[in-house]
Amino acid sequence: MASPRIIMKLIVTGAHKEPGDVLVLELKHPRKPLLPSFEPGSHVDVHLPNGRVRQYSLCSDPADLTHYTIAVKREPEGRGGSAWLHDTVTVGHELHVSAPRNHFPLKEGEGPILLLAGGIGITPLLAMARVLSRADRPFELHYFTRSRTFAPLLSMIEQDLDETSVRLHFDDEAETRADLGAFLSKQPPNAEAYYCGPPGFMAAVSRATEHWLEDSVHFEAFEPPASDDAPPEPFTIVLRNGTIVPVPAETSALAAIRQAGVLVMASCENGVCGTCECGILEGQPIHRDAVLSKDARSHRFIPCVSRATGVLKLDL
Ligand code: FES
Repeated sequence: MASPRIIMKLIVTGAHKEPGDVLVLELKHPRKPLLPSFEPGSHVDVHLPNGRVRQYSLCSDPADLTHYTIAVKREPEGRGGSAWLHDTVTVGHELHVSAPRNHFPLKEGEGPILLLAGGIGITPLLAMARVLSRADRPFELHYFTRSRTFAPLLSMIEQDLDETSVRLHFDDEAETRADLGAFLSKQPPNAEAYYCGPPGFMAAVSRATEHWLEDSVHFEAFEPPASDDAPPEPFTIVLRNGTIVPVPAETSALAAIRQAGVLVMASCENGVCGTCECGILEGQPIHRDAVLSKDARSHRFIPCVSRATGVLKLDL
């Protein structure tokens, strides 16, 4: 896989709207026939004018590197990136796109695989379904949306996947609607779940799989989980060379570290992409991200959103 720091100038060769206010973009290199390879679950950073960067999962087939496909849901409450793409980008437009990287990999394993998608969360799971299908690994893709008319990429699912592996669940159809908790409680102990979707969906799957082994539950979130309402407290970071970096209540750890002159790569600055991840040498973090696994939380830190109590020594 190419370094994610490589920024490619890709051309939009296809653009169409999907239900749920989703814009699907097909991206190709203007000269090279093939793009860098990617694993299912990968995303790219799309660099927007005025320095904004947004992450979008690749939903195209990892076996077909002639193009990438991303799907962008318009987020009226968002920070403007999706609206800019919806309102500006058409076929022929050039977009600056990073090489793919993956924080949501498919693991090797023997157990049955459940891919659980809520709405636009279908994007990374669609790439996984394509790969699992080809590898003949048993899986079920469960796609949950409010209704058929709000289901982005449904035509792609119906066209590209074997219908025996796909279960559609629409809230407004009694015959397809599913109770997530009841459904997940009936799964065999060796089942593995991969899930992605909006915050309410993520919270519901997380609750329903609380008692599952950590290794058997994998997710990718678009937003960090809602934090408690406690106002942020100041704390102190100590860097490897002994530099003391005070982090005021109203400043992120990332901003404070940068102000101290240390270069830390960052992308989403929202706790969902993992670019700014660093190691903890000592101290009590308060994790606010949606990237780190339970295991990683004992020794890794996401400075763009997470905080700490007292003094936190970082491997920076
Ligand atoms: S920059 Fe994306 S998690 Fe920190």
